[in-house]
Amino acid sequence: MIWPRRRLDTARIPSVHLTGERVTVRPPRAEDWRSWAEVRSRNRAMLEPLEPRWPENCLTREFFSRRLARQMQDWQRGQSCSFLIFETSSQTLIGGVNINNIARGAAQHASLGYWLDQAFQGRGYMREALTLVIDFGFSALKLHRFNAGCLSGNERSAGVLLRLGFKEEGFAEKYVQIDGQWQDHRLFGLPAEHWPPSE
Ligand SMILES: CC(C)(COP(=O)(O)OP(=O)(O)OC[C@H]1O[C@@H](n2cnc3c(N)ncnc32)[C@H](O)[C@@H]1OP(=O)(O)O)[C@@H](O)C(=O)NCCC(=O)NCCS
Repeated sequence: MIWPRRRLDTARIPSVHLTGERVTVRPPRAEDWRSWAEVRSRNRAMLEPLEPRWPENCLTREFFSRRLARQMQDWQRGQSCSFLIFETSSQTLIGGVNINNIARGAAQHASLGYWLDQAFQGRGYMREALTLVIDFGFSALKLHRFNAGCLSGNERSAGVLLRLGFKEEGFAEKYVQIDGQWQDHRLFGLPAEHWPPSE
């Protein structure tokens, strides 16, 4: 089914709501645009070198609506699951996590993508959010494995993955387009057998 471009049927947005000790994780909604644009704009200089090239007008309401329609379609089709992260106490939007490229059949794996407002880093919030999302992936989606790739110099991201029990499994040359260039990545993996991580 093709979703109408501007009139998103909110009743169909997945009602997933994952709650941890300090963060809440849920799919994006139309009313998140203003907070999303504010936090993405404030973190632009930090995020742009680490993400696929930001399209023109990517912080506009129209862009957000189109993206949201695509994300909801992907949820419905079981292709990817997008989430926003909120600090529960303040209800502030602080980041995002995506389960991307869900492969079924004999694969049953998916890739993780994530980002956090710089002002909220260094508190373990991403670790908590990823724990909720990985739990959701293994239990509700019945995935068997998560994959994740980090730019070679992104030690902070590698640290989050290693603390969650991911193992570094390899290196992929010119793996993903980041900031307009095909860039090398370190590859990490987490099979369900190794979840949850031992402390
Ligand atoms: C990658 C990224 C999400 C990591 O954020 P983060 O806040 O460092 O991640 P965590 O939530 O796991 O927090 C871990 C840090 O919080 C500290 N911390 C403080 N209180 C904590 C708590 N209660 N529990 C766990 N960790 C805590 C840890 O010691 C650790 O600090 P350290 O890295 O200095 O050792 C963030 O740097 C980011 O958004 N980067 C830009 C986008 C990006 O790189 N995305 C990934 C692309 S592959």
